[in-house]
Amino acid sequence: MKATGTLLALALVGPIAAAAAATTVAALGLGPLATGGAGLAAALLVTLAVMLPALSGARRILAALEDGVRSFRAGDYSLRLAVDRKDELGALVDIYNQIGDTLRDERRDIFQRELLLDTLLHGVPVATLLVGHSGRVLFSNRAARQLLGHGRRLEGHKIADVLAAAPAELAEAVSSAESDALFSVRLDGEEETFKAGRRTFQLGGQQHTLYLVERLTPELRRHEVEAWKNAVRIVNHELNNSLAPIRSLVNSARSVLDKPEHRHRLEEIFATVAERVSHLAAFLDGYAAFARLPAPRKRDVLWADLLERVRHLCPFAVDGPLPSAPACIDPSLMEQVLINLVKNARESGGPLDEVKVSVRAGADGGFVLAVVDRGRGMDEEVLRRALVPFYTSKPQGTGLGLPLSSEIVEAHGGRLHLENRAGGGLAVTCRLPPR
Ligand SMILES: Nc1ncnc2c1ncn2[C@@H]1O[C@H](COP(=O)(O)OP(=O)(O)O)[C@@H](O)[C@H]1O
Ligand SMILES: [Mg+2]
Repeated sequence: MKATGTLLALALVGPIAAAAAATTVAALGLGPLATGGAGLAAALLVTLAVMLPALSGARRILAALEDGVRSFRAGDYSLRLAVDRKDELGALVDIYNQIGDTLRDERRDIFQRELLLDTLLHGVPVATLLVGHSGRVLFSNRAARQLLGHGRRLEGHKIADVLAAAPAELAEAVSSAESDALFSVRLDGEEETFKAGRRTFQLGGQQHTLYLVERLTPELRRHEVEAWKNAVRIVNHELNNSLAPIRSLVNSARSVLDKPEHRHRLEEIFATVAERVSHLAAFLDGYAAFARLPAPRKRDVLWADLLERVRHLCPFAVDGPLPSAPACIDPSLMEQVLINLVKNARESGGPLDEVKVSVRAGADGGFVLAVVDRGRGMDEEVLRRALVPFYTSKPQGTGLGLPLSSEIVEAHGGRLHLENRAGGGLAVTCRLPPR
């Protein structure tokens, strides 16, 4: 405003000074004819007579300009000034009009962009909530309203109230997920898988939080079909790997019967058949473990004992003190979970001494077991598919470690979360409920 004021003042001084100078020169031109002070006063009067209308015209323009600039400040860019002057004031009014045009165009562009963003946000299936520093929802898209508000607008409500009204497991997962986390929740009797994430950022100098929740179930169904195809392929491959040599060995054994001098080969043939059969049995055992998971036989187990037993099979570092209270779990099943998770962490490509296991007491009286690493973490695709049976990104993988672990944790009434860590690597958390 100050700069504009100076500008206006300059614009005012220009033409008036010019007019005054011209008039004075004209008056002075009459000098020899006039006599003394009376002549000078007459010249001044002439000057004022010429200037006054110009001065009040300039005032009007300046007042209009001031109004216009004030309305700019109030965000109204609609006021245009029509002044037909070729002097500095005219130029100033032109500049004023140009600034107004530019601001109007920019506002229209911003409005259109906001409209586009709004349409996009309401169209995407990812539930999106923007929460202000006061904890109130500033924006909710259609998916968020459907998931958390029975279709109603959530703007203006406290995020805590919105989450309190949602299914407890969903609310807990949404509020505790720092970066992208995967979890399953029973909604209307159906198991639904979600990915939740939370980002914080500064907007207008204040902290805002963006909650994103993506329903993965339809996508997972598609992956399940792929997983089944993959399973059939693996089973087919393993069966053939064993059956083809057994078939040819049986033929060899038959021909040995016809040639008693080759009897010594029978021993070798039977040994190979036995080896193939036991390989097949071990393979089938592995799959049966997944298909026929026994119900957990829970008893009190000390975390220190459980971790110690697994550490001998798959080494890891223990992070922080372990709870002294015992957990009520099936020790052999939970050992299996820990082995699978630590094995994955050790295969994640990070330093082995960064593979850490921690157990802490949960706020609800249960426990939170976490296995973390500093490996490659999971990209979107892997995160989406890691819990699908038979999904593997490893040449020798079975794709059963994580789904099996998740099944076991759920059989204990708990939840398994996958979450990329800030600074790289993966954190797998198993929340176990109180006994
Ligand atoms: N700690 C981890 N870091 C990065 N990726 C992982 C981790 N654990 C599991 N994964 C990914 O999830 C996939 C499935 O894991 P899992 O079910 O244990 O099967 P497998 O280990 O036999 O591949 C792995 O192939 C890998 O791509
Ligand atoms: Mg594994």
